[in-house]
Formats: sequence, C-alpha cells, structure tokens
Amino acid sequence: MDSKIFANLDYDAVKYLLSVDDDIQIRELLGAARQTRDSLIGNKVFIRGLIEYSNLCSKNCFYCGIRAGNNKVLRYEVPEDEVLKAAVFAWKNNYGSLVLQSGERSDSAFTSRISELIRKIHLVTENNLRITLSCGEQHEEIYRKWFDLGVKRYLLRIESSDPALYHRLHPRNAKHSYYKRLEAINSLIRIGYQAGTGVMIGLPFQTMDDLAADLFFIRDSGVHMVGMGPYIEHADTPLFKYKDTLSPPEKRVELSLKMIAILRLLRPEINIASSTALQTLDPQGREKGLLAGANVMMPNITPVTYKKNYDLYEGKPGLHDEPADCGRSLAECIRSAGCELAYGEWGDSAFYIKEKGDTE
Ligand code: 5AD
Ligand code: SF4
Repeated sequence: MDSKIFANLDYDAVKYLLSVDDDIQIRELLGAARQTRDSLIGNKVFIRGLIEYSNLCSKNCFYCGIRAGNNKVLRYEVPEDEVLKAAVFAWKNNYGSLVLQSGERSDSAFTSRISELIRKIHLVTENNLRITLSCGEQHEEIYRKWFDLGVKRYLLRIESSDPALYHRLHPRNAKHSYYKRLEAINSLIRIGYQAGTGVMIGLPFQTMDDLAADLFFIRDSGVHMVGMGPYIEHADTPLFKYKDTLSPPEKRVELSLKMIAILRLLRPEINIASSTALQTLDPQGREKGLLAGANVMMPNITPVTYKKNYDLYEGKPGLHDEPADCGRSLAECIRSAGCELAYGEWGDSAFYIKEKGDTE
C-alpha cells in the first residue's frame, strides 16, 4: 500500500481503507495509526472505571437488550453507598476518572439522584476523580446543572450518523429522534463539555458508505472523545431477526479496528476507547483496540450483583470478575499492547486541550 494514502484521507481513501481485506495492508493501516498516536499524543492509556449505575431505561432502541420493552430484564439501580464505594475503589486504584452510565431517563427523580451522586462522589474522592456521565439525552438545563456541579465530560453516541439508518434502528417517534440526539451532542459541546460520541459497527443494513460517513461525521462534529465498537446481536430485541445478514464476529472486530485506526489518522489528538464490545467478540479485543490506535480503557467496576443485568448485548465478558481482578488483567493487557498505563491521570483529551488553548 502506498503510504501517501494516510496523509490524504479523503472520502474515497477512507472507503478504500475500510474495505482492505489483505492482512499485510490491514497491518500497515493499524501500524500507521499506532505511530500517529505515539508520535502526537504518546502511548499512554487512560483508565476510566465504568459504573453501570442503572439499567432502567425509557427508550426502546431496536438493538439494545435493556430497552424498556424487554420485560425479561431484572431492573436495578445501584444503591448510593455502593456507587460511592466503587468511586473510592477507582480513586484508590489510581484510575483518575470514572464513567457513570445508565439507561436513559429524564424524570426529575432520576436527574436529581444523579446530581446528588455527583456531589457525593466528589466529596468521598476529595475531588481527585474526574467524572464522565453517560446518561443519554437530557434538557440543556440539566446538562448545565451537571456541568456546574463539576462534571466536565459526557458521552452520547450518535449510534449512526445517517438519519435513515438511525431511524431503522429506533422506533419512529419523538423520543427517538435523530435530530434531537444531534442537538444534544451540540448542546454538550456548546456548554463546554469534553464531549464523546460513537457508532456501532457491523449493524444490519449498514454499508461501507455509512461507516465512511460516520468517520467524517465524528471528525467534523467537534467531539473530543470516541467510543465505538462492533454491534452484537441480542435475542430479546427486534433487530435479532436480521442476525443471519451480519458479517461473522471476527469480521466485525476487524472492521471495528479499521474504524479506530482511520479515526486516529483523521483526528490524531482525540481520546478513543478500546470498547468492551470488542472484548466481547474477541478475548484479545481490548489489546487489539490499543494496537489499532485507541488510548482509553474502561474497566467495569460495577458491583458484580448488578453487572449481569446491564445486558446490552450477548456474551458480555467478566460478569463474575470482582473489580480488583479487572484491574490486574487490564495492566497486563496494556503492557502487552506496548503501551504505558497512565496511573492517576485525569486524561483530558489532547484535542480538547488544544481547542481550549486556541480560544483562550
Ligand atoms: N451491540 C453493541 N453495542 C450496543 N449498545 C447498545 N446495544 C448494543 C448492541 N446490541 C451500545 C450503544 C449505546 C452503548 C451504551 O451501548 O452504542 O450507546
Ligand atoms: Fe436505553 Fe441506551 Fe439501550 Fe437505547 S441504547 S434502549 S437509550 S440503554
């Protein structure tokens, strides 16, 4: 492959790279992404402890196992003392930051509880831990309130940047509007959050054009962080009936790695997570994500009793691992990918720091 292709990534080049099938070419692509990461932002991997706070959700996305319409799910909300214990665990283990994730709810009982948790997490960790929220679409004033409480990072995946595909993956109603979601991402950026987005890869109906467009969407959206990974079918969801149209798991992993690598080349300074979904389809998935240019890992520190019920897709790994076990295998994984674990660092996105510098 002519290495000049990496310096001029237009739409056709991106589509070409997404479709390369030859092992040597794929290795060249992933190597170029790794080199770009190492030379521009270094080989440090930032750690965010992931707390799956609640699987209660008011939405009905067609791909997701905890959608409101799935009545087989045992619903939970992790009690406050257990959330705080997990936060202290993350702090004491030098994770630097945590992600509080939940299904999407906008009732005031929920949003107030999140506000309360934010205050208490800051208190028990003596302001040493950065919090990222991943609690779906909310009114701008709620985003502002959480920002004012000291949360400076928010994850909200667009899932697919193509409105037509988005609407094939969600019920057609106001609660699942592509434009509302887009507006929510823009409002996070406007408020000043380090905002993250992402897509699922290998979805039914998804084409290489969709994925190329996703990459340019992410590049141009102004987000500072990205989490994206393979789509994984779940038997209790409407999309399951298309499972025979999916490419095999190893191909979805390969495609996800190519997406990570191309994004690293398109936006070298953003934080890119090596997703749990990658690890679900491939035991070495998380290392492979780092080898493709990712620089963030999100070990799951949800108390084991609740973990199994945060059942987005099938085959989620480490369901019975205690948080401490997750931590150990994480260090090994990072070392084996030739990276350095960033102990106790908050891990702001270099793209965010650069942008902020430009405007100040
Ligand atoms: N496969 C892969 N990822 C999924 N998510 C939800 N369901 C699935 C699935 N079946 C992802 C979505 C969501 C994130 C929390 O989990 O991208 O934003
Ligand atoms: Fe709810 Fe998120 Fe699942 Fe959609 S993807 S059903 S919003 S938890």
